[in-house]
Amino acid sequence: MQILGVVGSPRRGGNTEILVDEILDGATEAGAEIEKIILDALDIRPCKGCFACSKTHECVQDDDMKMVIVKMQESQAWVLGTPIYWWGPSAQFKAFLDRWVSIPRTLFRGKKTILTIPCGGGSESYARHTVDMLDDILSYLGMEHFATILAPGFGKRGEVRSAPDILSAARQAGNDIIKKI
Ligand SMILES: Cc1cc2nc3c(=O)[nH]c(=O)nc-3n(C[C@H](O)[C@H](O)[C@H](O)COP(=O)(O)O)c2cc1C
Repeated sequence: MQILGVVGSPRRGGNTEILVDEILDGATEAGAEIEKIILDALDIRPCKGCFACSKTHECVQDDDMKMVIVKMQESQAWVLGTPIYWWGPSAQFKAFLDRWVSIPRTLFRGKKTILTIPCGGGSESYARHTVDMLDDILSYLGMEHFATILAPGFGKRGEVRSAPDILSAARQAGNDIIKKI
């Protein structure tokens, strides 16, 4: 069982990476093979909107997204992590998402996902647009969204470590998703 963790924050050791790691640790405990990518460390250019991919299912841009799509295909489940930036996902995460447009609509059908989102504001409502956006995209692609782990009220780097309940829910989600595959 292969699980792919995707960190959409450019801040290494930040709240998003901690949450993704915790979920991946739970999956490892349940016997999964894990891999983690840091979007900010990769060359993933924004979609050009040319729609050349509608015929070829390949992007005209030759960058790291090709390699990432292979990893996405090889994994049965993905852990998608992004911080909230202005009520939305980070630019790195949105660029990654937009590039899914090149992929045949059925390619990822049935894959499972866990979404995790920290934000500085103390209310989960800061994440509502991002949660709804991901719900719609994953459902459009026929994927099976398994769990959403939100961490409102954690703005400083690593601050989510002080929330054992959230970390434990994250680890449990990683553990549980493996049992469902
Ligand atoms: C450009 C930028 C915009 C942000 N906008 C919001 C926001 O709209 N709502 C919110 O609750 N937090 C916002 N934050 C705070 C981050 O969501 C918060 O610091 C989060 O923990 C960052 O995750 P990280 O440690 O993984 O980078 C923003 C942070 C940055 C850098």
